[in-house]
Amino acid sequence: MQVTINVNGEDRTAEVEARHLLVRFLRDDLGLTGTHWGCDTSNCGTCVVLLDGEPVKSCTVLAVMADGHRVRTVEGLEGADGLDPVQQGFIEQHGLQCGFCTPGMMLTARALLDRNPDPTDQEIREAISGQLCRCTGYLNIVRAVQWAARHPLEASAAPSAGSTS
Ligand code: FES
Ligand code: FES
Repeated sequence: MQVTINVNGEDRTAEVEARHLLVRFLRDDLGLTGTHWGCDTSNCGTCVVLLDGEPVKSCTVLAVMADGHRVRTVEGLEGADGLDPVQQGFIEQHGLQCGFCTPGMMLTARALLDRNPDPTDQEIREAISGQLCRCTGYLNIVRAVQWAARHPLEASAAPSAGSTS
C-alpha cells in the first residue's frame, strides 16, 4: 500500500505492507533512528512519537494508520532558533544517563507543555507514566520538564497551528 506521512514537516511517500509498523517505517525506511525500539510488548514507551501532536507508541501504530497524518520525531524537535527548551532542559538538569528512553520522554514532554505550559510535578509524572527509564529514577526527568516549563518556546519558534511539523 502507498502511504504519504508528513514527518517533521516533510511529506514522505513509500510503499509498505499493511502490517508495517510506524516505528519500522521511521527507522528502517526513513533512517530516523532517534525513535528507539525497546520491547515487543508495548511496554517500554521508548518508541513514542507525536502523531498529530499526541504522543503514541509507534510500535503499536501501523504505518498505514498514519497515512495522511503528521508525525514528529526527536529529529524534528530542534527548531530554527536552536534546541527545543525540552532538549535544553534535559541537558541543564541531567535528565538522562544512557539516553535510550530520552527521545520518547522529550516528545511526551513537548506534547504536555504544548497543552499545559505549567504542569505540576504530578502532571509531569502522569504524562510520562507510560514510559520506562531504567537509569535516572525519573527525578531529573521531571526537573528537566520543569526547566523547560520555565523557559517556554518563543512564539516565533513554536510550530504554528497550520504547521506540518
Ligand atoms: S518499543 Fe517498547 S513500547 Fe514501543
Ligand atoms: S536514561 Fe537510560 S533508560 Fe532512561
